[in-house]
Amino acid sequence: MSVPAPIAMLAELTHRCPLACPYCSNPLALHGKENELNTETWARAFGEAAELGVLQLHLSGGEPASRPDLVDLTRAAHEAGLYTNLITSGIGLTPARLDALEAVGLDHIQLSLQGTTPELADRIGGYKGGFARKMAVAAEIKARGIPLTLNAVMHRHNLDDLERTIDLAIELGARRLEVACVQFHGWATRNRAALLPSRAQTEAAKRIVAEAEARLRGTLAFDFVPPDYYADYPKACMGGWGSAGLNIAPDGTVLPCHAAETIPHLDFDRFPDKTLREIWYDGAAFNAYRGTDHLPETCRSCERVGIDFGGCRCQALALAGDAAATDPVCSRSPDHHKVTALLETALAEGDAAEFTYRRMPRKG
Ligand code: SF4
Ligand code: FES
Repeated sequence: MSVPAPIAMLAELTHRCPLACPYCSNPLALHGKENELNTETWARAFGEAAELGVLQLHLSGGEPASRPDLVDLTRAAHEAGLYTNLITSGIGLTPARLDALEAVGLDHIQLSLQGTTPELADRIGGYKGGFARKMAVAAEIKARGIPLTLNAVMHRHNLDDLERTIDLAIELGARRLEVACVQFHGWATRNRAALLPSRAQTEAAKRIVAEAEARLRGTLAFDFVPPDYYADYPKACMGGWGSAGLNIAPDGTVLPCHAAETIPHLDFDRFPDKTLREIWYDGAAFNAYRGTDHLPETCRSCERVGIDFGGCRCQALALAGDAAATDPVCSRSPDHHKVTALLETALAEGDAAEFTYRRMPRKG
């Protein structure tokens, strides 16, 4: 099969983060600072990505502002010709740092939102005072006119606040609002019961987003990611494995998606041991699930296979025990009953479930 060039790259600059959100998509085994790529190596990666065809670079984490060299990294990405999007909680972005980021060519900021009140947001983020600091940063971003997307991860504790979330996005001057219902990867798998919204909340959210989308056309754009446990068909995760984007973990491991390391038999290459071009086109992990040949007959004979590519490989591994299987979220999957069972258990336990916060491992 012919392999297209990647369009986007997610650079997880660090796993360090002042927040401790229980839905974090980072892996359970987080990298410490000592494993992080240095400034020069990241800059090389950005140059190679641009040569490979990448257009958009998402500077992410953890909290990318935990890197003291964030401005240098942004400059390097901009000079490589990449469109730069900073994905941040806002903590660590002082006015002076925002000025510097703007001066070196930062194109866009994606600010996370844990809740619409200090009580809720600080409880979900596990960080006291975080909401007030985030609102101050949002005002600084608005004052500079830097294009802003608000990224609200939604779940059973904040989905009822969706209308206020939309109003807040407008007040903060966001051009886009991501209403992203939590996906169960990374730390979220530890918090399934504490996070899974009800079907009624999900249906209400769909109605509210559809109404707001029509009302606010031209003012605020929406991306709505519904919780896939209630869906009939899965999402086209990553737009298809190894077809549109790549992720680099803080230590340089190059991944086809953020959760790929949960598939234990895959061999991942590291940058700079190999070039990004070698890894993208010839890497064993990238070629493992490209296309649809690995999928079972259920998918290969299905009219939707060109739309969703059989769903998410990591979810297929986690729920069906086989990364090549039909994503069990699909109602046609022979493993779909496992999703139904998980859903029922999570909903039954939800009221009493406590958060397991994302934490870095203790040293020594
Ligand atoms: Fe998608 Fe496979 Fe389900 Fe068809 S059977 S909808 S291709 S996951
Ligand atoms: Fe890995 Fe979906 S998260 S393929």
